[in-house]
Amino acid sequence: MLVLAAGKGKRMHSALPKVLHPVCGTPILSHVLDSIFEADAYANVGIVVGHGRAEVESFIKGEPKYSGRKVSFIVQPEQRGTADAAKCAIHSDWGGMALAKKSSILVLPGDLPLIRPELVQEMLAPKPKGTLVRLLSAIFERPHGYGRVVRKGKKVSRIVEEKDANEIERKILEVALSIYSFDSAFMLKGLEKVKSRNAQKEFYLTDLIEIASKKSPSSVESVLWSCPDDVRGINDIWELAQAQEILTMRILEKHGRAGVRFYNPSSIQIQTSVKIAKGVEVGPGCVLAGNTVIEEGAMLGPGVALSNTRVGKKAIVHKGSIAIDSEIGEEAKVGPYAHLRPESRVGKKAKIGNFVELKKTSIGEETSVAHLSYLGDAEVGARVNIGCGFVTCNFDGRVIEGSRKHKTIIEDDVFMGSDCQVVAPIKIGKGAYVASGSTITKSVESDDLAIARSKQVNKAGYAKRLKPSDKAKE
Ligand code: UD1
Ligand code: CA
Repeated sequence: MLVLAAGKGKRMHSALPKVLHPVCGTPILSHVLDSIFEADAYANVGIVVGHGRAEVESFIKGEPKYSGRKVSFIVQPEQRGTADAAKCAIHSDWGGMALAKKSSILVLPGDLPLIRPELVQEMLAPKPKGTLVRLLSAIFERPHGYGRVVRKGKKVSRIVEEKDANEIERKILEVALSIYSFDSAFMLKGLEKVKSRNAQKEFYLTDLIEIASKKSPSSVESVLWSCPDDVRGINDIWELAQAQEILTMRILEKHGRAGVRFYNPSSIQIQTSVKIAKGVEVGPGCVLAGNTVIEEGAMLGPGVALSNTRVGKKAIVHKGSIAIDSEIGEEAKVGPYAHLRPESRVGKKAKIGNFVELKKTSIGEETSVAHLSYLGDAEVGARVNIGCGFVTCNFDGRVIEGSRKHKTIIEDDVFMGSDCQVVAPIKIGKGAYVASGSTITKSVESDDLAIARSKQVNKAGYAKRLKPSDKAKE
């Protein structure tokens, strides 16, 4: 199998190679490879690389899901067209193997994020005897920019690119998709005949169709793919956005049919890698990314954004909450408007209320941080009550033992009154009680009471002296 991915993708207006642009969190090229390997786990894939070659190669090599797969890279030094890309491939070691095995070569462009494994399977099916090429086509209502399939009677005679087509040919709605299966020996010989006498001065792989059809019209087999969405190539950022919309709906449908309830599905974004169990409810405007896992019966309110976050069974994440690289335990309640920054863990049945920010902080089981607090670099035990407006002062501008952030430890069953600060590094022992409005700078032993606020003084009748206007009236 040959994937063409050397093109520049000039119309993307982006420095990132076209095939690495993500659609639902997965690069376009990865969608193509995933479909290939789902159709045939043993596929021997050659990827033609050129523009952004180092980035493309290092992405594939660094992706664990492709370790153990047969993938080789073929360099196309200059992007002189799709036939030139194919030529580089057939003359490479990878091509040598295909020729030696007399196998067919399935060609796919690297820019098809919506391709399905079924399509790859269909292209891999054995070809009738005498067939030199199987060509996939589709009917596009707006065929602009695609090569058109020109037929003589029922047989395909050639493909003409938009830029080379005449008025009549431009009206053809049947388009070529850069998806073919070639007899390898024919491909080797045919490519020698391809010239660059065309509007773009490029070597077109599509020319092989005319070459085959001239040999024998019946050597070209055409297969019409009935779902045009599957085969839309990406040429610019807008097409990327449209493809993402289509793929998002497919992802939602897959989860929805497996028992996930979505409210206003068209407002929800879910990346391919996200796992959601049955019985989960997802509110409007949620964005679920990366390796996020939502366990059975959990509920996500409107506008919840989660990235690489695990949400335990029956947990509730209320409106507008954000979590990154974090864990929310079973039956925990988070939000509305809570912010879990990386490496935060919320224990089973714990409560993180509105406008609470956690960073690299673990919260024990049944602990409550109900309102307006910041906890950074903290370890909080079980059944702790943290009152409203609590702050861990974890950064004092100094560096101690290489760390600029200092740790707060709050052990089990601590009661922290409202409006307290603790200046880290610090430890509050098990069962201790901290009075409201305290600024704690020294650790507190287990079961002690800490009060760190100035004593209150009441001065009888003094308020009147502070109101000169009242005095004037007298
Ligand atoms: C190509 C087809 C066109 C078809 C369309 C479908 C040709 C001449 N035209 O046009 O008939 O309708 O795809 O999407 O083949 N590439 C290389 N090296 C190159 C040039 C391109 O590897 O030198 C790769 C690109 O990275 C891309 C694929 O080939 O993945 C197709 O190239 P692109 O420039 O998008 O071709 P189109 O003009 O869209
Ligand atoms: Ca294209």
